[in-house]
Amino acid sequence: MNIGILGLGTVGGGVVNVLAKNQAEIMRRTGAQIQVTHAAVRDINQSRICPTKGIQLTQSPLDIVNNNSIDIVLELMGGTTLAKELVETALKNGKHVITANKALIATHGNELLALAKDHNAHLLFEAAVAGGIPILKALEQGMSANQIEMVAGIINGTGNFILTEMRDKGRDFADVLKEAQELGYAEADPTFDVEGIDAAHKLAILSAIAFGCELQFDKVSTQGISQISGEDVAFATELGYSIKHLGIAKKLNGKIQMRVHPTLIPKTRLLANVDGVMNAVLVKGNAVGPTLYYGAGAGDEATASAVIADLVDIIKGSLSRDVLGWQSLEATPYQNQDDIESIFYLRLLATDKPGVLADITAIFANHHISVEAVIQKQIDAQDNAHIAIITNQVKTKDINAAAAAIQQHDSIQEEVKIIHVETLD
Ligand code: NAP
Ligand code: HSE
Repeated sequence: MNIGILGLGTVGGGVVNVLAKNQAEIMRRTGAQIQVTHAAVRDINQSRICPTKGIQLTQSPLDIVNNNSIDIVLELMGGTTLAKELVETALKNGKHVITANKALIATHGNELLALAKDHNAHLLFEAAVAGGIPILKALEQGMSANQIEMVAGIINGTGNFILTEMRDKGRDFADVLKEAQELGYAEADPTFDVEGIDAAHKLAILSAIAFGCELQFDKVSTQGISQISGEDVAFATELGYSIKHLGIAKKLNGKIQMRVHPTLIPKTRLLANVDGVMNAVLVKGNAVGPTLYYGAGAGDEATASAVIADLVDIIKGSLSRDVLGWQSLEATPYQNQDDIESIFYLRLLATDKPGVLADITAIFANHHISVEAVIQKQIDAQDNAHIAIITNQVKTKDINAAAAAIQQHDSIQEEVKIIHVETLD
């Protein structure tokens, strides 16, 4: 089996290293001799994390997808323009393609999967979601007897690494992000990690596979972690919660909701204790109940593990994803974001004067919102009270209306912060 790799960076280099390290075991499982014969890179003179002896390096990736001697192409360079053209050409040439590129699959997956089918080729992307965790195989194979009710996970390693370091070591956001980049966890554009776009790409893929419908990246509501402050982390801890950046897909009353946002989850939940670069995905099936999958969410060899598992599947012929089995978009309506129900955490900074808290609770009452918990921290040097509130279950549009009304109160000193709370029941 001749393999051509597009991109020999963190993931591509990891693939070469793991194939070499576990060569005998992989050969035992596939019965095939796998060799990486070609790899495309941007800079042929750059040092690599893997040996390149025996691999023909090129700066022309088209040479790889058009090379008749190559059986399987691994797209591990990222991006959605050149990568898309290369994947299309490889599929049209009848080559199987494996990619770790969630941006590509989330935004162009429907057409690429159809193209693969037309050309009798496989397009696999296990490594695109949750790094080394074989979550797509778990959903497609292990959970195939179930109707999936919910998928909720920590699906961005960089974001989880940042939140953990900020909480445990009081480190600065920018400083931790820099370390995540040096460790090879972050995307080429790290705003994809911190603003939730990467997690939204992954959630769109998870949701399509869990609910058997076409990919709908534009239906994911997305919020990043850059607005989370040390004060929110401290309040959450005091209230018995951890703040995690979650991707949540649910099917409720026939409608699908997909959202990525910082979330307070009770400290007692397993997901609340998933730290650092680790990812975890909770999948709830209507027969099995809740199941949880945990592992490294980013990094060279962890991601390579998922890429090579797809390679083994193709070589063994044990496949696969049938795009025609997916339901049309009309058959799977999406829930309007305004109507999504959740518990919420609100944080306010208010001038300390009599009656403020009573006015705020009156606003909640006017919007039919019950308050489950309130903490008021001691008054600061500017005579401001720091207040955190946990509501009961309410519609998003009602909490937004209440927050807008609170914002108008003359005692409020900064923008009212709203964060989802999930019990994950
Ligand atoms: P990376 O370290 O930046 O590697 C990208 C590789 O692609 C480099 O070798 C680069 O060449 C090559 N490349 C880029 N543009 C090229 C071009 N126009 N022509 C030829 N070669 C080109 O990125 P990565 O972290 O491995 O990520 C690769 C993909 O995997 C992305 O889609 C990413 O989202 C996904 N992914 C990454 C991780 C992770 O933990 N890093 C995990 C899961 C999925 P040079 O080396 O010469 O610059
Ligand atoms: N940048 C991604 C992350 C890589 O941090 O999760 C793995 O998909």
